[in-house]
Amino acid sequence: MVNCWSWYVAAICIFLRFGLCESFIPNSSWENIEYQKLVDVKHAYINEAFLITIKNIASEPQSEYFLALTEEIFEKISLFEVQLANKNVYVNASLYQSKCLLDDGSVVGYGLISLPSPIEPGKQVSLTIKLSHTAHGLPHPEHILLKDAQNLRFKTARLPFSAYYTRKANLQLLGSSKFTELSAPNDQSLRGTQRDDSYEFQSWDDIPPFETKNQLDVIYVHDLPLIEVLKLKRDVWVSHWASTLQFEEYYELINRSAKLKNGFSRLELMQDQKNMRLSHYCSVLEMNLPEESSEHYYTDLVGMVSTSRVLGDNLYIKPRYPLFGEWKYNFTVGWTNKLSTFLRQSSKESFILVVPLLNGPTDAFYGKSEISVFLPEGSVLQALDSSVPMKSAEVHTQKSYLDLNKGHIKVTCEFDNMIDANRDGQIVVKYSYPSQAAYKKPLSVACYIFAALMSFFLLKSVNLNLDKK
Ligand SMILES: *[C@@H]1O[C@H](CO)[C@@H](O)[C@H](O)[C@H]1NC(C)=O
Ligand SMILES: *[C@@H]1O[C@H](CO)[C@@H](O)[C@H](O)[C@H]1NC(C)=O
Ligand SMILES: *[C@@H]1O[C@H](CO)[C@@H](O)[C@H](O)[C@H]1NC(C)=O
Ligand SMILES: *[C@@H]1O[C@H](CO)[C@@H](O)[C@H](O)[C@H]1NC(C)=O
Repeated sequence: MVNCWSWYVAAICIFLRFGLCESFIPNSSWENIEYQKLVDVKHAYINEAFLITIKNIASEPQSEYFLALTEEIFEKISLFEVQLANKNVYVNASLYQSKCLLDDGSVVGYGLISLPSPIEPGKQVSLTIKLSHTAHGLPHPEHILLKDAQNLRFKTARLPFSAYYTRKANLQLLGSSKFTELSAPNDQSLRGTQRDDSYEFQSWDDIPPFETKNQLDVIYVHDLPLIEVLKLKRDVWVSHWASTLQFEEYYELINRSAKLKNGFSRLELMQDQKNMRLSHYCSVLEMNLPEESSEHYYTDLVGMVSTSRVLGDNLYIKPRYPLFGEWKYNFTVGWTNKLSTFLRQSSKESFILVVPLLNGPTDAFYGKSEISVFLPEGSVLQALDSSVPMKSAEVHTQKSYLDLNKGHIKVTCEFDNMIDANRDGQIVVKYSYPSQAAYKKPLSVACYIFAALMSFFLLKSVNLNLDKK
């Protein structure tokens, strides 16, 4: 029956595309009175926080602040979130559409922060900026023994990399019990000190814009797997008739941690596992599913895999083999939920579906993710939104010769650089679905404000504890 289906592409829109601009340097309308950067390396990806107090030094009121980002980070951003410090006010933050070349040949990108109201000349405001990206530390050395602890090497700007002049700056690394600096500078004032799980620096004064000379090159202990989902294909099927939402996910996984020096030995693995310690190889993946899921399955190329367990809302799956450094594993998991948990009826024939972005393994980051929602036959897409910027979105209509109606609608969204924390994000699909009342079970008719969804952001997304000073 496959060849009697035909596909129509109804709409294609590309939301994010970055060109290289000629030379955009923001006006020096601001000065950073204080610029504090915290970098948390605890996860497979990097969480950064900036606590910045800025002052308008121009003669006009200003409402746009440009956060300079190195090209490496700009290309790999997962989350970018800004708040007015000490106030629960979210600030519109987006990525500026172009990158620029600096005089020294390096490339700079910008996060554009649009303040809720302009700041008068001479006045100050404090911002809390949270940034997550997948420019993570790399294994150092690249090859280790199974029983060795893994170290990662990570580089970041030591002094503020900012479009504006900085009066006072400070840096702190968090999330490892041991940081060691490679080629530490002779200048004692630039060196850091280890304290418990952090590496702290003293304050620096008067740093010119776009300071790039003082890179910090650091090695830290990180004896955990670095799980990358190279590709995720997540399909979500809506059935009004059965009152279900069915999920099926296909993963192509790789472990980016250090490679085994002497190859794999089952004996060494058994000895190591006796120690019951956390390690750099991954033998179990934990996934957090929506509440009250049922009909779980787990398959791979070979067939059904029996080594999985559901405990509460968690699905624990054991790959057929432990994933050592650069080892790959492809698998499929699926489950079913009640539709009423995700669907609201907004009017007689109009529905709003809110689907979580991810349910994948904890402490993981994603290369390409493709999330498709299959709407029931006869429905019409009205609106689509997501709490994370999409790379692209497509709407296909799937029609068969036997089908007199318009056919199924498949809505596909693509994302780059997601991290496990994006699981708190959502895709919102609004569609109409006429004359199905006879079939469908009563749906909870809750009042749902669509517009409110546009402004929500991933409140729980970043685990960086800003209060920890
Ligand atoms: C920078 O200043 C110039 C001249 O005052 C102005 O025309 C331009 O719009 C400003 N650019 C930004 C990004 O504020
Ligand atoms: C946020 O700022 C960007 C860039 O200035 C703008 O294009 C966008 O419309 C703003 N979004 C909202 C919701 O204000
Ligand atoms: C990834 O490889 C590292 C190093 O070999 C290993 O310790 C870790 O357990 C692996 N992770 C997974 C998920 O297999
Ligand atoms: C996983 O799938 C990819 C793409 O089809 C393939 O290149 C890769 O070899 C597969 N890996 C394994 C371990 O089966």
